Amino acid sequence: MTKTLSNKHPELVVKQENPFNAAPPPRLLTRSHATPTDLFFVRSHGEAPEVDINSYRLEVNGGVTKTLSLSLEEIQKDFERVTVSATLQCAGNRREELMAVRPIPNELPWGVDAIGHAAWAGVRLRDVLAVAGVEGEAGLHPHLEFGGLDETERLGKRIHFGGSIPLAKGLSPEVILAYEMNGEPLTPAHGFPLRVIVPGYIGARSVKWLNRITVQAEPSQNYFQSHAYRLFEPHVSAETVKWEEGLALGEMNVTSVICSHAENEQVRAGAVSVQGYALTGGDRQIARVEVSCDGGETWAQAELLNEACSWAWVLWKANFDLQPGKYQLVVRAVDSSGNEQPQDVAQVWNFKGYMNNAWHRVNVEVVK
Ligand code: MTE
Repeated sequence: MTKTLSNKHPELVVKQENPFNAAPPPRLLTRSHATPTDLFFVRSHGEAPEVDINSYRLEVNGGVTKTLSLSLEEIQKDFERVTVSATLQCAGNRREELMAVRPIPNELPWGVDAIGHAAWAGVRLRDVLAVAGVEGEAGLHPHLEFGGLDETERLGKRIHFGGSIPLAKGLSPEVILAYEMNGEPLTPAHGFPLRVIVPGYIGARSVKWLNRITVQAEPSQNYFQSHAYRLFEPHVSAETVKWEEGLALGEMNVTSVICSHAENEQVRAGAVSVQGYALTGGDRQIARVEVSCDGGETWAQAELLNEACSWAWVLWKANFDLQPGKYQLVVRAVDSSGNEQPQDVAQVWNFKGYMNNAWHRVNVEVVK
């Protein structure tokens, strides 16, 4: 835990000390395409485990012809090193706006800050699975469960963090077992010595402190797949929930966010540059970002500051010439499948507070 905290940026905002959860101020998020590691949000459900690299092993088991037990050195030596540029976003990003609609107890109030982009280096998951041999027809074992070394208590039991993805996604070349983030070994907070990176999926599936991969017939029964990270309709509550009826989250949805301005900020009259990020899920790309300064009456197309590609956020900017008065800045994006964002945050309220991708609105006052 001490190691986790020693490399944090002075401006990182701590949301919870133990387990450690933190995020950068939004205006720092869009300064560079890759988020510096010391500013990268940390979302941990348990305390970061201290891993002894000499005894550390990654087990690969279940529906495989050969069970594997690999040290970090073996992973680094025996498999090709690849780099993937990917944005990680927590499904709870923008929960704070949902909480303003109706309370969401016992969940962290993330602003627009539970997101970051990094260059991840490691080995392709499919290369490791090829050595283990996925048994028989993949159809018999179509899920990959990941287990982490960290422990936490849920439903009165000590459990490890875990979750699963479809085997087909795990066999895609962008899914990697990462041991480096932005050119450095993973820090303890971000999953040292090894984590899976599942680009295009909610952050929860990118399991940190990874020590087990199981090829199996069913989706994971781990609490963080069977209860948490499920999407329910707005009328479902903690009292009425039937957990099995929720949608176990996988691919992210299309979203866009203003980072340059905070709610009720005062802005000088004249040229105003509005900036932020946009992101979508699966293999889709951002097609268009539009910004309004009059609450969504009229829209201007934003300039995309980097090429839109799968798995990565797009940073954007739009310039306005604003005279003194009150303005509501709004952003919305469309992705390559034509998916649009819902207009109103109340439409997407759910009692766990996930996947808020409503138009993002920020009220500002322009002064002389
Ligand atoms: N992996 C483990 N083992 N334990 C965790 O608590 N949190 C998940 C995921 N992987 C988590 C985990 C969630 S909810 C998110 S959003 C991402 O890690 C956050 O990754 P980061 O802390 O590196 O930003």
